[in-house]
Amino acid sequence: MKLTVIAATGGIGRHLVAQAVAAGHDVTAVARRPQELPADVRAVAVDLTRPDQPALASAVRGADAVLSALGPRNPRTDAGITSRGTRAIISAMQETHTQRIIIVSAAPVGTVPVPGQPRPPRHDPGDGFFMRYLGTPLTHALFGRHYADLAVTEQLLRDSGLEWTISRPPKLTDRPATGQYRTALNRNIRGGITVPRADVAHHMIAVINQPDTIRQTIGIAS
Ligand SMILES: NC(=O)c1ccc[n+]([C@@H]2O[C@H](COP(=O)([O-])OP(=O)(O)OC[C@H]3O[C@@H](n4cnc5c(N)ncnc54)[C@H](OP(=O)(O)O)[C@@H]3O)[C@@H](O)[C@H]2O)c1
Repeated sequence: MKLTVIAATGGIGRHLVAQAVAAGHDVTAVARRPQELPADVRAVAVDLTRPDQPALASAVRGADAVLSALGPRNPRTDAGITSRGTRAIISAMQETHTQRIIIVSAAPVGTVPVPGQPRPPRHDPGDGFFMRYLGTPLTHALFGRHYADLAVTEQLLRDSGLEWTISRPPKLTDRPATGQYRTALNRNIRGGITVPRADVAHHMIAVINQPDTIRQTIGIAS
């Protein structure tokens, strides 16, 4: 397949590139620091703070899927980049008639209100007692601004007309890939506290050709 990886030098992004190349896919990698990319991919330099639309359109044109692991390097100070960058990616995909996109959001986002979804559930149906009353309130207190931006990002996709899938992991780790992760459509994973970045990347590539994941959010955890 022809795949475009956005934020290809990030934690999940690096795994997306490495796993896609290892599987024999034709990879275009979008990064603001393209010098950090491996030599065996087509590199496109775009800083999504000031998106270069023609460059972004050239990166997504003809792709069977776009995989985005875009997010703030510091979610407490840089919140806002995910929606801004995703808006530009969606626009480039609409312009080039590219349909399939898979992005990374976060497990606590399903309970965040946005104009398109003003009354989300008070608790994610997959969350147990610990996440409902301790984990989620704590992470909301720490990263609330970033989660609000992720909720806006998810809404942009719901309104886009594209064939989107949203991955919602809990705390990410740098442990090696296990392939043993659990997933669930439209809810978090009961008792799922962490997941390796490598497994999230593996699952994002796996869902590209799973039609039942189109226009769905997916909980993923070890
Ligand atoms: N950390 C967690 O435990 C956790 C849990 C659940 C969900 N998440 C979500 O998962 C996302 C991905 O996680 P991760 O660990 O892979 O994040 P990460 O390592 O911080 O990677 C973020 C990526 O976004 C890129 N980026 C940021 N601003 C950019 C800009 N202006 N233009 C172009 N690229 C830009 C970064 O580029 P550079 O490489 O150039 O910096 C980097 O490649 C997070 O952002 C968060 O929303 C995180």
